[in-house]
Amino acid sequence: MAKPAHIAIIMDGNGRWAKARGLPRAAGHRAGVEALRETVRAAGDMRIPWLTVYAFSSENWSRPKSEVSDLMGLLKLFIRRDLAELHQNGVRVLVIGDRENLARDIKLLLEEAEVLTEANTSMNLVIAFNYGARDEIARAARKLVRAAREGRLAPDQVTPETFEAFLDTAAMPDPDLVIRTSGEQRLSNFLLWQTAYSELVFMPCYWPDFDRRKLVEAIEIFSARDRRFGGVTPQDVAL
Ligand code: FPP
Repeated sequence: MAKPAHIAIIMDGNGRWAKARGLPRAAGHRAGVEALRETVRAAGDMRIPWLTVYAFSSENWSRPKSEVSDLMGLLKLFIRRDLAELHQNGVRVLVIGDRENLARDIKLLLEEAEVLTEANTSMNLVIAFNYGARDEIARAARKLVRAAREGRLAPDQVTPETFEAFLDTAAMPDPDLVIRTSGEQRLSNFLLWQTAYSELVFMPCYWPDFDRRKLVEAIEIFSARDRRFGGVTPQDVAL
């Protein structure tokens, strides 16, 4: 099967990676940023046009204050340090999630990354930040109700296609492949609408140990799968 055009990753296991080494959780997240950097480069080299990463979920606010602030700090550092390289390599940065309640400096940085890289075409890096799929769907419904109230949409015009246009991911292709590291086998409120037909690949390694080789391994597992999208494989039709 062809290479996936869109890979989405749940980068899980930073805390356990750190614990196994007797290090603080923050060290796990820092190592996680290294793995992210390598993965973006590898996906770019492999000409994967879309990569989405789950960097901070709307549920992550319930972590200790210090960990939340470590993660916010790492996002800032990642954008400040890596934006120039991403831009130079033709990467377009997009952000999904609820931006409303984020700190002003984070909002500005996210905007800066999107605006600077807007015209890039080599690869799309989607950062899911303060993202939760149920929240995204509820926000989309809110926008849709507003549109209906203003007469821009009639109830019988609500279809999966028109609804999709209100999601944060409007105009993005659905992920072909979702990778989750750390051995956990669930979606944890990540892209619930968009993963209806995605192949899920769960890998036992913790996120900081993920690298180019592991990415290739996940793509190979994906390529061996038989995707039917609710239909049948053409060669089985005659049977
Ligand atoms: C899961 O590990 C990871 C996260 C909650 C966040 C992912 C963040 C990074 C990879 C680094 C930050 C990158 C950016 C761009 C902000 P966990 O803490 O849930 O690990 P555990 O399940 O082992 O405790």
